Amino acid sequence: MKTSKPRVVTTRQELAKESQRLMQEVAAAGSRPSLGLVPTMGALHQGHETLARAARADNDVVLATIFVNPLQFGDTGDLERYPRTLESDVEILAGCGVDLVFAPPLEEVYPDGLPLVRISAGALGGKFEGASRPGHFDGALTVVAKLLHYGAPAATSQGPTTYRAYFGQKDAQQLALVRRMVSDLNFDVDIVGVPIVRADDGVALSSRNRFLGPDERKAAATLSSALRTLARRAAANEPLEMDEVAELVHAHPLVDLDYLEVVNPDTLEPLGENCRYTPFTGRALALIAARVGPVRLIDNMELSGVHDGGTWEHSRATG
Ligand code: PAF
Repeated sequence: MKTSKPRVVTTRQELAKESQRLMQEVAAAGSRPSLGLVPTMGALHQGHETLARAARADNDVVLATIFVNPLQFGDTGDLERYPRTLESDVEILAGCGVDLVFAPPLEEVYPDGLPLVRISAGALGGKFEGASRPGHFDGALTVVAKLLHYGAPAATSQGPTTYRAYFGQKDAQQLALVRRMVSDLNFDVDIVGVPIVRADDGVALSSRNRFLGPDERKAAATLSSALRTLARRAAANEPLEMDEVAELVHAHPLVDLDYLEVVNPDTLEPLGENCRYTPFTGRALALIAARVGPVRLIDNMELSGVHDGGTWEHSRATG
């Protein structure tokens, strides 16, 4: 594994030049190079490491971006409090074998101030996380669109290149929206979803976990434990009994549940009532969000109910 420090560039011009140099090196050795992009806002933890390692395993050249995007923060306090840890982030990326880091200042990404024209996340952008964070997904998709453009590799002497971008499955709504943006607006990039990383207590890794006190940390484990209960029931083709699970979460004094929902993994449309009170079959995604102390946490888990013959079938309302 390569651990030398990646070059850190701050302008789009340097990025294009350095990325082209790295890609051309691979092309000169006779193969058609691929590039993996890992967009981040820094404050990297093990979850991001998994993204970078997945990109490293799949691609010849790995580019990570570090940019705290003001467009996706609702309240300026949250933006100011967001941890900025560039030096240790670069160390972490070095350990994952990343080749190049793009860490632009605000003016490089938004030279004319915040953009007038933005990507709209549509109806899906207003649900779940979007319901309590108006404009968040428009802001996130707008910067993701820009970063996907910046990172897109040019053709090399070996002809066209392969371009992949890596996003965590933890932000299931963001991942679903990025996939839709890329297919709806014809971006030439493959989107790769990387599984959630959990701590030993089951809590999904997040940069926000550092703000949890010891009791809050214990309380945070209630979220993944609720999801595991649903996954266990789904796997056994039992009714999910969602209300009972939500009640258990509600009962915890430090947890303020926002939503617990079972949805189609691709469209995030809530599934029919059948999976609540009748035996669960098919594939679904359980989503949960709650405030625990000062922090809003999200988590999700895939539900798989094995059907006859080992095939999968999407759950549908049966009446
Ligand atoms: O998931 C994140 O860290 C951010 O939303 C992203 C994709 C880097 C865009 O700012």
